[in-house]
Amino acid sequence: MLQLVKRCPGYVAGYKAYCQEAFDNNVIYFMPTNPLDIDDNWFLRTKAWYDKKESGLIEGQSASFHYWAVDDDKFVGEFQLRTEFTEQVMTGIGSIGYAVRVSEWGKGYGTEILRQGLQIAMEHNMEKVLLNINENNAASIRVCEKLGGKLLDKIEAYNKDEGHHLMRRYWIYL
Ligand SMILES: CC(C)(COP(=O)(O)OP(=O)(O)OC[C@H]1O[C@@H](n2cnc3c(N)ncnc32)[C@H](O)[C@@H]1OP(=O)(O)O)[C@@H](O)C(=O)NCCC(=O)NCCS
Repeated sequence: MLQLVKRCPGYVAGYKAYCQEAFDNNVIYFMPTNPLDIDDNWFLRTKAWYDKKESGLIEGQSASFHYWAVDDDKFVGEFQLRTEFTEQVMTGIGSIGYAVRVSEWGKGYGTEILRQGLQIAMEHNMEKVLLNINENNAASIRVCEKLGGKLLDKIEAYNKDEGHHLMRRYWIYL
């Protein structure tokens, strides 16, 4: 059964394997940590940074909450929730980031991660979330629309992984 769990040392090896698959397959829509950076000390080294993000203590950034998606012992993907509608959220990264391990695509995990993620957003008393999706990312568009995404508009966007692209913005009302 798929679960979203807080980052924890027990799943670091799975997280690294997931990151490696993303890099090997050149997944541009959600680039995770470079697997070369994930050594034995990585979890402890980065913990304070993630704690700070959750507390909203990073200047100019929304508070953000990071989860790993696991199915029993199998590492399946990740989910991120940003709870404030900052400029960066509205015109760039959106309220939600999520991804599934490449070898697990097409098995329903993406839909379940987003479904459970929306529950988490409700627990944060959010009334709606914004998903910003590259016009060419058909799988994510499908998942978002299945879970009630309402197209707001399409805007020009840029980031270093996706380059210049047309980005769909969807509201999901909770
Ligand atoms: C987007 C992503 C999370 C989907 O994960 P997944 O586990 O494959 O999702 P699911 O299996 O739950 O559902 C995928 C849906 O997209 C559909 N789909 C997949 N590729 C498609 C395509 N090229 N065109 C149209 N629909 C497509 C599938 O048929 C399925 O719809 P269905 O349930 O109606 O059959 C995954 O592809 C991923 O991690 N991509 C890279 C990171 C990313 O894009 N993150 C989102 C950034 S906004």
